[in-house]
Amino acid sequence: MNRRIAVLVICATFLAGCNGFQNVMGGDGAESANFIRLFTLFMIVCAVMYVIVAAALIAALWRRRRSSLTVDDRRHHQTSPMVRPALIVWTVIVVAGLTVLTVASFFTDRSNAAIASRPAIHMTVTANQWWWDVEYNLPDVSKTLRTANEIHLPVNVPVHVTLKSSDVIHSFWIPNLAGKQDLIPGRLTDVQLLARKTGLYRGQCAEFCGVQHAQMALDVTVESKRDFERWYSAQLATAKPPATPLQLAGYRYFTTRECAACHNIGGTPATGQVAPDLTHFASRRSIAAGALPMNKGNLYGWVADPQSQKPGSKMPTVGLEPNELHALVAYLESLK
Ligand code: CUA
Repeated sequence: MNRRIAVLVICATFLAGCNGFQNVMGGDGAESANFIRLFTLFMIVCAVMYVIVAAALIAALWRRRRSSLTVDDRRHHQTSPMVRPALIVWTVIVVAGLTVLTVASFFTDRSNAAIASRPAIHMTVTANQWWWDVEYNLPDVSKTLRTANEIHLPVNVPVHVTLKSSDVIHSFWIPNLAGKQDLIPGRLTDVQLLARKTGLYRGQCAEFCGVQHAQMALDVTVESKRDFERWYSAQLATAKPPATPLQLAGYRYFTTRECAACHNIGGTPATGQVAPDLTHFASRRSIAAGALPMNKGNLYGWVADPQSQKPGSKMPTVGLEPNELHALVAYLESLK
């Protein structure tokens, strides 16, 4: 009984990995769908080969058992007349199988390359230990948008993403949409995205890049073109001014103390460029590159002591007084 439960638990664990917003078998992007088709074909061809080899092996063992010949007898035994045709058939099967896989791989590669041959949107994503700096590069430079740890994509619109790294090698991976691509210091790489289904997805750094590699995630929202445009124009606006005395106190702290040296908040004196842009911070789904869901409790925990939440991250624990913490959280929460 216990063994049965263990098997069920293992199966459930695997199946859980096949569902949801971070799923390599999701097929929600053009490239991901191509990969799934290719994977399925590889599985079928390899399964057929495996079954043939296993059947031949079992047949040989069975024949050997039935045979009464000794090893010495067999050395002088004549080869069966069936061996030559069997070898020819097997060679043909192997060559045909490998040819099918090679041709399918070639066309999958061509199809992936064609996905964003005429991209409608250009983006630049820069990886940092351990967060993502995101920039939308429109032909009209006044509409360049900078955000962090999230990307929004319009559905069925090809997007070209230029990838950079500011420190070590990272890897950009949104399993539901496309394959992995490394981000390498001093080099530009790129990836094409063509999302086919609206929804919320999760990207994850896929190259070990330091102690917080696992907490280097990217929130991905695929939405209708209209919703995307609405989001984009809201993000282009400067930050809302503080509306309450508590928010004002938080604004004052933020713009005159440590925070402003690293973070940018559009339309305020905080213009730091080395940490995530926080202009519309509270509109995001998570805090600290997917480390914590966005909510009041997590925001308190993160601002009060980032090093206990994400040890090793570059955000220092500054030792805030309770009133400063309340004010900062109130102000950050207002940045919708
Ligand atoms: Cu960045 Cu792993």
